[in-house]
Amino acid sequence: MNPALTSSPQWHALEAHYNDIRGIHLREMFAKNPRRGQELAVEGVGLYLDYSKNRIDGDTLGLLLNLAKSVDLPARVEAMFNGEKINLTEGRAVLHTALRAPRDASVLVDGQNVIPDVHAVLDKMAAFCERVRSGTWLGHTGKPIRNVVNIGIGGSDLGPVMAYEALRHFSQRDLTMRFVSNVDATDFVEATVDLDPTETLFIIASKTFTTIETMTNAQTARDWFLARVDGEESAIAKHFVALSTNAEKVAAFGIDTQNMFEFWDWVGGRYSMESAIGLSTMLAVGPDVFRRMLAGFHEMDQHFRTTPLEKNLPVIMGLLAVWYSNFFRAETTAVLPYDQYLKRFPAYLQQLTMESNGKYITTAGTEVDYDTGMIYWGEPGTNGQHSFYQLIHQGTRLIPCDFIAFGKSLNPIGAHQDILVANVLAQSEALAFGKTAEEVKSEGTAKWLVPHREFQGNRPSNTLFAEQMSPEVLGKLVALYEHSVYVQSVIWNIDAFDQWGVELGKVLAKKIIPELDASHSSDLNHDSSTNELIRRYRAMQ
Ligand code: F6P
Repeated sequence: MNPALTSSPQWHALEAHYNDIRGIHLREMFAKNPRRGQELAVEGVGLYLDYSKNRIDGDTLGLLLNLAKSVDLPARVEAMFNGEKINLTEGRAVLHTALRAPRDASVLVDGQNVIPDVHAVLDKMAAFCERVRSGTWLGHTGKPIRNVVNIGIGGSDLGPVMAYEALRHFSQRDLTMRFVSNVDATDFVEATVDLDPTETLFIIASKTFTTIETMTNAQTARDWFLARVDGEESAIAKHFVALSTNAEKVAAFGIDTQNMFEFWDWVGGRYSMESAIGLSTMLAVGPDVFRRMLAGFHEMDQHFRTTPLEKNLPVIMGLLAVWYSNFFRAETTAVLPYDQYLKRFPAYLQQLTMESNGKYITTAGTEVDYDTGMIYWGEPGTNGQHSFYQLIHQGTRLIPCDFIAFGKSLNPIGAHQDILVANVLAQSEALAFGKTAEEVKSEGTAKWLVPHREFQGNRPSNTLFAEQMSPEVLGKLVALYEHSVYVQSVIWNIDAFDQWGVELGKVLAKKIIPELDASHSSDLNHDSSTNELIRRYRAMQ
């Protein structure tokens, strides 16, 4: 148990406040203050956050900020930016912010400025990308590269996939981008079935270069390639590059370390999309667009670091997540982008949020007595409306929503954007205000049907509004959620940067792999369920 947080006066004040506010409807709150929609909103670095449709009043944010101050949030933020080893359980600094710092910045890790290394890798990536994109990097038969296959998983896949989709508008259309992550061979086969190996570049993306899914897919890619180039090993150098922190393992795999793009142990996997792990992104959109994305990240970093807490977007969003998680006991948050380019953003956020804050042990090694990381999920806007929004509107659970919307489309055609934006505005309005039984009745609805057609409302949401999707905005959005996650972890006193929870499954899988072979002679010594499933698998072979 970690009594400090929940027995603090700041926590108690929030509990009391929650009891005061829980019965108040957003309808009343808006009626009471006609300027609420303008007042409970904040704009920073071109992102407008309307948080007025949350179950808060004029005191709530102040009370949440008191809690943040009681755990020294500003000092914890500085500790991250300054390279302190805030990833306690792994003894590492956490410096994804250094990946997007300008060339003349200085960030010290163990007394050494890491910024020159960061930019040296970015420059090397840029030079490589220029060659591939311009067709001057030739495959071993002299043909330019037309296909890029990124092989990676978790942070070595989700960020690149999401960014490729998000920036597709800016991409070079004659380069085919594919992503292989699942160890299910189907993923590899379907991604490569129509590719000409002599025009294909494989990117093996793995921070550790030991992840079994990625190493298995990488080996299959190597075999696939060699089988199609008459076993010509020397051709590998023109068709395989690696993104990793582990030069030794890269060399052992057979990739020349000249063809390796490096990053460092102070970059967490789920915080790595703007490091060398972003090579596929840079190949797709080019170095200039990639740097624009980095500039957007950096702008949000600066905003987070320097803006007073009450005007600070990641702080406000992080504290609202704590408010819903710990006081309203909400279990999930839906992230609902109304822009097709952000279709993989919710999937990307799942790793960022849940691998970071899915912890029940505090940094002091004690068990929490409060809930931590919420479940994040979502789909692009209007698709979700015809799928799961029913439950958000009329289900029994409270699901805070983050709507993300843009004023202008990158593909303006007819009335599409007006219809899209009308929908996002309508959804947050409907969730907040609902429709009373009286309103339903006044429409002449049969009495028995009224309860079915009534909407309670009082369902909270944030709306993030920006002018148009762009590389800069993508960087800002990702950094916004990264920092919001950190704010939550500081309040909860957990290490947002380790991921021990994924280890046990990995270890057990390693043990089971040889046991699946029917000729394996030793006795199975798992539980009776696992033993039986193994036997059945064997029988199917
Ligand atoms: O799932 C655990 C994890 O370590 C993630 O944190 C990471 O993003 C992923 O595996 C892939 O790791 P790597 O890049 O080392 O292959």
